[in-house]
Amino acid sequence: MSETPLKVAVTGAAGQIGYSLLFRIASGAIAGDRPVELRLLEIEPALKALEGVVMELDDCAFPNLAGIEIGADPEKIFDGVNLALLVGARPRGPGMERGDLLEANGAIFTAQGKALNKVAADDVRIGVTGNPANTNALIALKNAPDIAPERFSALTRLDHNRAISQLATKTGAAVSDIKKMTIWGNHSATQYPDIFHAEIAGKNAAEVVGDQGWVEDYFIPTVAKRGAAIIDARGASSAASAASATCDAARDWLHGTPAGDWVSMAVVSDGSYGVPEGLVSSFPVTTAGGDWEIVQGLEIDDFSRARIDASTAELAEERDAVTELGLI
Ligand code: NAD
Ligand code: LMR
Repeated sequence: MSETPLKVAVTGAAGQIGYSLLFRIASGAIAGDRPVELRLLEIEPALKALEGVVMELDDCAFPNLAGIEIGADPEKIFDGVNLALLVGARPRGPGMERGDLLEANGAIFTAQGKALNKVAADDVRIGVTGNPANTNALIALKNAPDIAPERFSALTRLDHNRAISQLATKTGAAVSDIKKMTIWGNHSATQYPDIFHAEIAGKNAAEVVGDQGWVEDYFIPTVAKRGAAIIDARGASSAASAASATCDAARDWLHGTPAGDWVSMAVVSDGSYGVPEGLVSSFPVTTAGGDWEIVQGLEIDDFSRARIDASTAELAEERDAVTELGLI
């Protein structure tokens, strides 16, 4: 192993998502052939369970796993990290919305934002999976004034993947033929999965579907409420699919999106598409060289406008709530 390892921090490493995510990262799902060093953060009471997970990681003998460090002090674990995946946070239970977690989880992201600000590597990228992901990312970035806000993103890739899967099932297309899917807004029930700019084997997806009723009454609510459906069925929130999406998002951020396609990422708004500046909202983005750019020039009709506005209004409410809680 001659190449410098990519130092990847994962918080909540002993949790459900962690149990899937760590093994994917260690086997190259983000860094490919480059070695990775894992920095795993947990709260003290979960460190013993995390030691067991580390034993299992050791037992896999992953050729590109260059080292593992665990601990409960964010300043030690985040020291010099190039990528921080902030997963550790309480999940919601049945009947809750993700926004109900703001009070319980928000404080985690003030402390972690501050620690990243002090000790992360100069090239750090920070992906937030813990819910409510968009507003937790906002809290973290506001508490890390020396890290450019563009280095933070929140996970809407799971919603993006869910939308592709639903569209593939409806049309019989291969997942790999579906391009330019977009999730707008919040990772919540108000999110707007948009197929009007998506393509199936080069044809406009909405035209291929040709059924506005399906889009409104089935597709949008199914994607937007998929997290709750999984909680109902499993008695616990999505974990393996969330880990997979967390890897997809980080891999594409670091290595770039393929030509002719884009991905959905929640990033700090520059006011594009009328999304209030400063909110962390999901957009269609392309990435290259570790940077993202919002895809510009898409036509937004009244149907899409109303849905984007509703979701970003919710994000503005969440921002106001965390401002009142003194978290930003
Ligand atoms: P989990 O309860 O199984 O694990 C969470 C872990 O975080 C626990 O081990 C806990 O000890 C740890 N933790 C709590 N506070 C911490 C802190 N301050 N520092 C470090 N670790 C801490 O939950 P999970 O199923 O792994 O889900 C984690 C989060 O991800 C939840 O908030 C869940 O809602 C969210 N989630 C988001 C998406 C998404 O698409 N954005 C998808 C699935 C789940
Ligand atoms: C999901 O979308 O599966 C996660 O955000 C978990 C949840 O609370 O729905």
